[in-house]
Amino acid sequence: MPRKIIIDTDPGVDDTMAIFFALCSPELELIGLTTIFGNVPTELATKNALRLLEIAGRPDIPVAHGADDPLTRPFEGPVPFVHGADGQGEIFLPDPAGAAIDLSAAHFIIEQLRANPGKITLVPVGPLTNIALALRLEPRITDWVDEVVLMGGNALAPGNASPAGEANIRNDPEAADLVFAADWQVTMVGLDVTLRVHMRPEHIADYATHGNPLSDHITRILPHYRNYFEANYDAEGIFVHDSSAIAYLIDPGLFKARRWPMRVGTQGLGRGKTWPATGGHILPAWEGRPLVNVCVGVEGERLVELAAERLRGA
Ligand code: BDR
Ligand code: CA
Repeated sequence: MPRKIIIDTDPGVDDTMAIFFALCSPELELIGLTTIFGNVPTELATKNALRLLEIAGRPDIPVAHGADDPLTRPFEGPVPFVHGADGQGEIFLPDPAGAAIDLSAAHFIIEQLRANPGKITLVPVGPLTNIALALRLEPRITDWVDEVVLMGGNALAPGNASPAGEANIRNDPEAADLVFAADWQVTMVGLDVTLRVHMRPEHIADYATHGNPLSDHITRILPHYRNYFEANYDAEGIFVHDSSAIAYLIDPGLFKARRWPMRVGTQGLGRGKTWPATGGHILPAWEGRPLVNVCVGVEGERLVELAAERLRGA
C-alpha cells in the first residue's frame, strides 16, 4: 500500500521537482496539495500547484489554498531572484484550467487526517503556517497523523535566508515553534543535509533526455534557479531541498538522523534559527519538548540518482 501524503508547498522550482518526484513514486500516493506563501505569494502558489498537477496529468488531485500571511506578522515577500517572478523560472505559464477547492488548507488537512487516522503523512516544504493553524483549530490531528516529514531548518549548518535562519522556518518562526512543540513525530530534513545533495550540470542535462512532460517542465524552469545557486554558492548546478523530504519518505536509509528537542528563534538576528538541544543538559526552554528526528547526514549522490530514476520513468 502506498503511503498517503499531503504536500504543503510554495511552488517554487524545487517544490515542483519534489511534487513531480512524489507523483512518479509508487511508494507514495499524493492525496492533496495545500499552498502557502514563501517562494511566491499564496495566490500564485495555488495557481502554480494547479498548473503543475495539470502538466502532470493529475488535475483530479485537490489543491487547497492556504494562509496568505504568517501567524503574527505580514508576509515579507517572495524571492523572484531565486525562483523567478512566476515561481517557475520565468517561463510564465498560462492560467490553470482548474480551481482550488472550497476548503482552506488547514481545514483540508484536518478533514483528511480525521477521515484517515494513522494513514497520512504531512510533508510541508514551505513555511509552517498552515500546519500550525491546523494544530490550533484541531489539536487532535497529532493523534490522527502518521508523521510529519518537513523540509526546513538548520540544526548545525548556517542559514540561507539569513546567517541564522533557513527560508521556510524564517518565514514563520512562530508557526515552526508550534509544530516542533506538538506531540507528534516530526522529521526535519533541513539544510544540514540538503546542501549536501548536489545536482551537477550533467544531472540537469540528463532530465532533458527523459522525453516526458514532467522532466521537460523541470528542464525549462531550472536555468533561472541554477543561475541563483551558481552566483551564490561555490558550485555548479543546484542543491536539492524539497525533493530531499520526498526521498526520506521513500528511503529513510539514505539519511543519518539524530533525535533532539527543538526550539525556534523568533526574535532579532536569531529569528528563524532552529536550535536543537544537542548537549546532555536540557535547559528549561527545551524541557518537555518532544524529540525531533533531525537529518544530519545523507547519501547525496544516491538521492539525486533516485529522483532522476523516478522522473526518467514518468
Ligand atoms: C526552502 O526554501 C524555499 O526557497 C525552497 O523551496 C525550500 O523549500 C529551502 O530553504
Ligand atoms: Ca519550498
